[in-house]
Amino acid sequence: MAEKNEIILSGIRPTGRLHYGNYFGAIQHFLKLQEEGYRCYYFIADYHALTTIVERVDFYQQTIDMLRTYVACGLDPDRSIIYRQSDLPCTAELTLLLGMVTNIGHLERGTTYKDKLSKLPERRDGTEGNPLSYGLLGYPVLMAADILIVKADIVPVGDDQRQHVEMAMDIAQKFNARFGETLKVPAPVARNALRLPGLDGSEKMGKSENNTLDLLDDPKTVLKKLKGVQTSTDPLPLESESTDPDVVIPQMPASVGALYRILHLLAPEEVYLDFVGKYRRGEKFYGTLKTTLAEYVSAFNAPIIERFHAPDNTEEYVKEFLRENAIKVTPVALDTVEACRKAMGIGHSLYRA
Ligand code: TRP
Repeated sequence: MAEKNEIILSGIRPTGRLHYGNYFGAIQHFLKLQEEGYRCYYFIADYHALTTIVERVDFYQQTIDMLRTYVACGLDPDRSIIYRQSDLPCTAELTLLLGMVTNIGHLERGTTYKDKLSKLPERRDGTEGNPLSYGLLGYPVLMAADILIVKADIVPVGDDQRQHVEMAMDIAQKFNARFGETLKVPAPVARNALRLPGLDGSEKMGKSENNTLDLLDDPKTVLKKLKGVQTSTDPLPLESESTDPDVVIPQMPASVGALYRILHLLAPEEVYLDFVGKYRRGEKFYGTLKTTLAEYVSAFNAPIIERFHAPDNTEEYVKEFLRENAIKVTPVALDTVEACRKAMGIGHSLYRA
């Protein structure tokens, strides 16, 4: 396979358990880029995870569990460079430096930040001020540091992260304009990410929404979860003859649509079409739909579960490749930080260089 020289970078928050939304929204794309021979850097954004915590979470353990699942899905630490953000602590230094060229106003217009701000419970008086953390406001600066520190060319992200990547480009351009060409300005690439609905029919499958189908769910759990999906609402009539899932599925009750969405991803086309036909004819078929789907899901999960438990896929293994990759990436990262220090006028670190 032809090697490609562009560096692709993407960050993953350490959530632990991985679900179908993660797989079809991100993991699948990461695997594809790996297969296509790009130089892929995938890192676990554990510093970012700290921007929203209210109590201690074992992010170390969640990172290990998540990476064992990634490996089980086919991510190969020999081909993709997988590391932990906090194992590259010079990222924090770069964040500090980039903060000097970042407007607060720009950060306050960040959608994630604005969203969190608007969801704060009403305050009775104004005495407390804005209770959100400095770290959260600075989320995009940290993300810019992640991207710029390894001199990434391409940053494949879903729509929700696009604005952050654009902010990173902006910060890099501003830095270069003020202190001379120092940072490589990356390009965002839409990942064309599928946003999988939750099993409860809500817009997004998410761990905190408790509506997920997980990659490590065993057949019993799968069946139980799928049987629990609400299908008692009357079918809504399909207005067109189309069988295109993007046309048909939105016309169904949301939780039924979620089942069809997963069926379309996993089952052969004719099985999906057969069930669309059943729906159209108004047959009673939800029971079979659920048991059929459960079989496809369990068949999809089986090899992942097996590889997850493989004797070599251990915490020690993950720790070792995280360590090796952190060592591999550090020289490039330090090179970036040192270049920025020099450009800004404080000069090289006197102990590091
Ligand atoms: N913020 C991203 C997310 O929530 C994760 C992330 C952190 C990231 N740093 C990054 C993604 C740099 C791409 C590039 O999904």
